[in-house]
Amino acid sequence: MQPVLSNLGFLAQVVASTQSTLQPAGPAARTISHLSWVVYGTFSVVSVVMWILLTWVAIRKKGTLAEHDPVDVGGGHGWILIGGFAIPFVILSFMFVFGLQAMQAFPLKPDSHSSPEIQLIGHQWWWEVKYIGSSPYLNFNTANEIHIPAGRTVDIELKSADVIHSFWVPTLHGKEDLLPGQPNHIRIRADQPGMFQGQCAEFCGAQHAHMRIVVVAQQPEDFEAWAAQQRTTAAVPTTSQQSRGQQLFLQGPCSMCHTIHGTVAGGGVAPDLTHIASRMGLAANTLENDTANLAAWITHAQSLKPGSQMPDITQYTGSDLLALVAYLQSLR
Ligand code: CUA
Repeated sequence: MQPVLSNLGFLAQVVASTQSTLQPAGPAARTISHLSWVVYGTFSVVSVVMWILLTWVAIRKKGTLAEHDPVDVGGGHGWILIGGFAIPFVILSFMFVFGLQAMQAFPLKPDSHSSPEIQLIGHQWWWEVKYIGSSPYLNFNTANEIHIPAGRTVDIELKSADVIHSFWVPTLHGKEDLLPGQPNHIRIRADQPGMFQGQCAEFCGAQHAHMRIVVVAQQPEDFEAWAAQQRTTAAVPTTSQQSRGQQLFLQGPCSMCHTIHGTVAGGGVAPDLTHIASRMGLAANTLENDTANLAAWITHAQSLKPGSQMPDITQYTGSDLLALVAYLQSLR
């Protein structure tokens, strides 16, 4: 099979969904947006006043600078005290208080009575997403895609499995680092259902730029349905081709790294594939999840994302590769 990369669908979604801090879709991002506009507005006014004064001085003193002390623009020390000390003090104090107030919108710890609902673990170069339920049977894992109920605040614990990464979905929240050995917390909330693009915002190695994440905010009932589906064990093959694909997956190298719940595949170093077909992207959302890209990713991962932990699985070609892809695509 010739690997044909069809990225258009996913790219169209990326273009359609904004990734700008200035178009907030939740309370945390709104706080940041307000702060940005206040800072931008205040310092725009300061700049304009500065340029007006500078122009005025230049015009007034044109041709006469040589006869004067360059510092003396008239008015004695009053200029220095007011313009150089009093006004900056007032403006910077205002910005400081305003900034402190904005920071209160970002608590460092989750509510004392609630534990995080999601653990987000950064890997080179993908996102492991662990949903923590109130009982162990409610737990499940996915990757590179976080679903949340719209209109409700969700606590996320941020961790790293290797180096420093940074979680940044600009329309929902500011950047927050994922540090090895030091969990961080973030609280996100989306006002309305929608899809919010984000990416790793801390250089973390060769494929840092290919570490995208998407947050899908859903109506609460849609979210519950999605979560219930994600908790189920993997679909059982229904065709001989899918059975062949499952056999190849379980007997080949795939199961060394990947988990598929309901099978013996229990590898823990790569994304959980129990419901891989329900996800929009592959390779941390750098490829659309379709037949051609799945086949290409299995056989040419090192060309698509050089240096990633996913090796080129070149032993599968022809009908074997098609069977493996068919099996993975049955895992909805
Ligand atoms: Cu992870 Cu940059």
